[in-house]
Amino acid sequence: MTAEILDGKFYSEKIKNSLMKSIDTLKTTYNVTPKLVVVIVGEDEASKIYVANKHKTCLNLNIDSDIVQLDANISKEELISEIEKLNNDPNVNGILIQLPLPQNLRKDEIEILSAIDPIKDVDGFSAINIGKLELGVENLVPCTPYGCVKMLEYAGIEIEGKHAVVIGRSNIVGRPMYNLLLARNATVTICHSKTKNLAEFTKQADILVVAIGKPNFVTKDMVKKGAVVIDVGINRVPGTRKINGDVDFESVKEVASHITPVPGGVGLITIAMLIHNTLKAICLQKNIDIPLLQDY
Ligand code: GUN
Repeated sequence: MTAEILDGKFYSEKIKNSLMKSIDTLKTTYNVTPKLVVVIVGEDEASKIYVANKHKTCLNLNIDSDIVQLDANISKEELISEIEKLNNDPNVNGILIQLPLPQNLRKDEIEILSAIDPIKDVDGFSAINIGKLELGVENLVPCTPYGCVKMLEYAGIEIEGKHAVVIGRSNIVGRPMYNLLLARNATVTICHSKTKNLAEFTKQADILVVAIGKPNFVTKDMVKKGAVVIDVGINRVPGTRKINGDVDFESVKEVASHITPVPGGVGLITIAMLIHNTLKAICLQKNIDIPLLQDY
């Protein structure tokens, strides 16, 4: 058996094509040009690449995009005051603080992210939006897990009634993924770095989502025949621009029914969902109701 590849390029292009129509409607009918501002604090090299990719995607789709580069030594108070300026700027529709923050700000991460106006919080990382998701309200939802469930839905993979196992409990992926799958009536198990006998859980998964941040961590012997495997890992090979996933793709594709590659999988969908969230934010800000993913 060789798994069907869930092609991130294919799905992200479809999503972006659909969003282009919505961008056009916002411009022509509502006279709004969407604007996203990405804030980057410090000099993390991988973050700079991600931010440049986000910026390029915005420009390709004709939406305005600014990058605000701040010094790594900025204080929490100064950073929050920069965020408040963006909250108060009526031309800014979406605000994203690229993570990770520099070490000195990490203890204040939740407070900093929660300073973003919840209706401009395109990452969905503020306490308000995370809380809403926990309560089953999907307003602005973290882009990576949201993109994963959208890709499953577009590929016609049923979630309801399935046993989904998520490896990783980060605020960015694991926890929101848990809530999104639960809201779609999966039975969800969440595992993490301290889980004992991990393979006993992963072998039960109909849908296995891996976001543990360890290259090639999940191997064939940990996966049930016919499982759907979603690899959220982005592990840089030191000294290169090459990336590896958390799943040993070559062996796992022999047992899985569907699998996402890295690169070319979830990462591309994440950026498409960021644009989706920017448009959704405009709809919330201006009380506009237009279809965003109309081709599906
Ligand atoms: N760093 C890694 N992934 C993400 C993400 O989805 N959003 C932000 N803001 N930073 C990240």
